[in-house]
Amino acid sequence: MGAGIAEICALAGLDVVVCVTSPASAERGRARIVRSLDHALRKGKLTEQDRDGALERLSFTADLDALADRQIVIESVLEDEAVKVQVFRALDKVVDDQRAILATNTSATPIMKLGRATERAGHVVGTHFFNPAPVLPLVEIVPSLLTEEDTVTRIASFVTEKLGKQVVRSPDRAGFMVNALLIPYLLSAIRMLESGFASAEDIDSGMRLGCAHPMGPLRLVDMIGLDVINAVAESLHAEFREPHYSPPPLLLRMVDAGLLGKKTGRGFHEYA
Ligand code: CAA
Repeated sequence: MGAGIAEICALAGLDVVVCVTSPASAERGRARIVRSLDHALRKGKLTEQDRDGALERLSFTADLDALADRQIVIESVLEDEAVKVQVFRALDKVVDDQRAILATNTSATPIMKLGRATERAGHVVGTHFFNPAPVLPLVEIVPSLLTEEDTVTRIASFVTEKLGKQVVRSPDRAGFMVNALLIPYLLSAIRMLESGFASAEDIDSGMRLGCAHPMGPLRLVDMIGLDVINAVAESLHAEFREPHYSPPPLLLRMVDAGLLGKKTGRGFHEYA
């Protein structure tokens, strides 16, 4: 999702520094953005000038210090609380402007924990994008109990006015608003497959053709990533203790097997 968020920001005319872990992941990220921009160009969503301008405004680095002069940082590392906490500790030391907003695209880590990893919890906020970020118009804005109202106002106007997305405000509870509704549905589809009730193809066709969803639930799990779905389900289950949030064994086994969906070439469906 980091690539998608960087793409949106660059298309909005912003100078974007993408901080990654290695030159290889910079290459992968850049290639992903080029593919997405080319797709949007083919679909007539942007011009060649827009695409070239966006690519010129993007720079990639593996050096966190390159973020020192940033006014807004949007963290989008893997969905692992310990890693995210470490990143926020480091960002707190690196980003000079004490009014800079440190935002996170997490789906599973409480915003409060990331705020408390810094000396500036008032300026830490959730900006939860939806996959694919360049296409879906929503961003959930998630303040923690310590986030200043001014931070919420500033990030909401950045997201609406600069990025052209729509915002909803969600409390800092596991799953926030959309995933608290979406995850039980996706887990039900996995349980339905696991119990032999219906095939993956039929479950997906059922929801696509019968309910006009753009894609079926199992294909959606593959697109989001089984590891991400599992992390969000675990966080919902840990917080609310309700059985419908509990990750089904099939999901756990597939995550253990490295069958993470589209990004690994196989999940509930296969991808070339
Ligand atoms: N930039 C701008 N627009 C783009 C684009 C890009 N890079 N790529 C595609 N588009 C546009 C296309 O032009 C098209 O627009 P029109 O309908 O106006 O023509 C539209 O997006 C659909 O694109 P495609 O025709 O290329 O592809 P598709 O019809 O097969 O749709 C999809 C693909 C967008 C993924 C669609 O299936 C979809 O929306 N699926 C559901 C996704 C979803 O539910 N996401 C939420 C996941 S939950 C989450 O992310 C949160 C979490 O924490 C887990």
